Amino acid sequence: MKVFVTGGAGYIGSHTLVQLLAAGHEVCVFDNFANSSPVALDRVRQLTNRGIGLVEADIRDADALRDAVTTFAPDAVMHFAGLKAVGESSSLPLLYYQTNVSGTMNLLAAMDAAGCKRIVFSSSATVYGEAHYLPFDEDHPIAPTNPYGRTKAMAEGIIGDWAKATAGASAVLLRYFNPVGAHESGRIGEDPRDIPNNLMPFVAQVAVGRRDRLSIFGDDYDTRDGTGERDYINVVDLAAAHLAAIEYASRAAGCEAINVGTGRGITVKELVAAYERACGRTLPVEIASRRPGDVASSYAATVKARDLLGWNAVLDIDAMCASSWLWQSTNPDGYGDRQ
Ligand code: NAD
Ligand code: UFG
Repeated sequence: MKVFVTGGAGYIGSHTLVQLLAAGHEVCVFDNFANSSPVALDRVRQLTNRGIGLVEADIRDADALRDAVTTFAPDAVMHFAGLKAVGESSSLPLLYYQTNVSGTMNLLAAMDAAGCKRIVFSSSATVYGEAHYLPFDEDHPIAPTNPYGRTKAMAEGIIGDWAKATAGASAVLLRYFNPVGAHESGRIGEDPRDIPNNLMPFVAQVAVGRRDRLSIFGDDYDTRDGTGERDYINVVDLAAAHLAAIEYASRAAGCEAINVGTGRGITVKELVAAYERACGRTLPVEIASRRPGDVASSYAATVKARDLLGWNAVLDIDAMCASSWLWQSTNPDGYGDRQ
């Protein structure tokens, strides 16, 4: 299959490229490197010994996007490109709506121009907002609590309307829980700019000595040990879910939202303990106050992914920490070209 991959140089996109290329698909990446490095694509080429088409441009540029899609003439599109920092989305909301919402509309228009009818979209569990019940299933009310989450909910709605209006169209909205870990080679991984907001990359930087200590944001939640509980999903399992999703989109019409998680919650303290096993030393932590906006627990119902995609997560928290540590310890400054 010919797969057009927006945001393919990013964390999740690059891991998915490895599996797409290994499965024999032809890919064209469309990325402006706003939050990624061309080195990631070089590493994917080395890992797979395969070529990657690249168009360096912005999804807000509708003409460039239409030209790229019509020239490549893909069988399917994977849409990773977007901005994802919750805090920044509150200070720069228009940038988020332009990139995540208008960018998605530009992409669908480009697909129409090229006659491409299949799309897999990177959505987020953040569209659910506060949990009315757990685990989150796909019928849980959609009520995002920040601009980033609203861009994802809007993009989901737009893709759903497009799929309804387009004969033979098929869309899969993958709602990721908490992606972590790295390719088992340690050659590609998550390379956050600035101070990481998320737990696993922060722990990784403490382990490698780039940060003094981890602050645990609250130990008085109603969980097993009082710390926040999340559904961490290995990025390699997540990449596999994308391959299952384009296969599904090739045989089914319509639009489906599907959770991608393990179905199991891991607390902050449990994750730190697993990371200590992976890196072989005790990590300095302190208990700090709760982070505003955080919930106690979040984890996925996974039945729909199993039933529709035939996919389930196979890698556990120890594998996630081991691969994260291999990436972080062998690439302490990430791809090394963005500091
Ligand atoms: P990432 O920032 O590593 O990758 C996003 C890619 O999109 C980057 O390569 C970036 O350069 C590119 N990009 C950004 N703006 C662009 C633009 N205007 N034009 C062209 N390219 C642009 O992020 P990621 O973690 O790989 O996330 C991929 C997708 O998954 C995003 O849409 C994100 O919102 C979604 N998602 C991520 C998480 C997570 O925790 N990582 C969770 C849920 C959903
Ligand atoms: N945490 C700490 N210390 C840190 C960072 C995080 O204790 O330095 C805790 C948090 O309080 C939370 C857990 O670790 O209990 C996980 O936090 P993350 O920031 O890694 O993940 P979140 O689930 O809070 O947020 C993620 C994405 C958001 C998305 C949200 C819901 O970062 O973009 O999932 O899908 F909105």
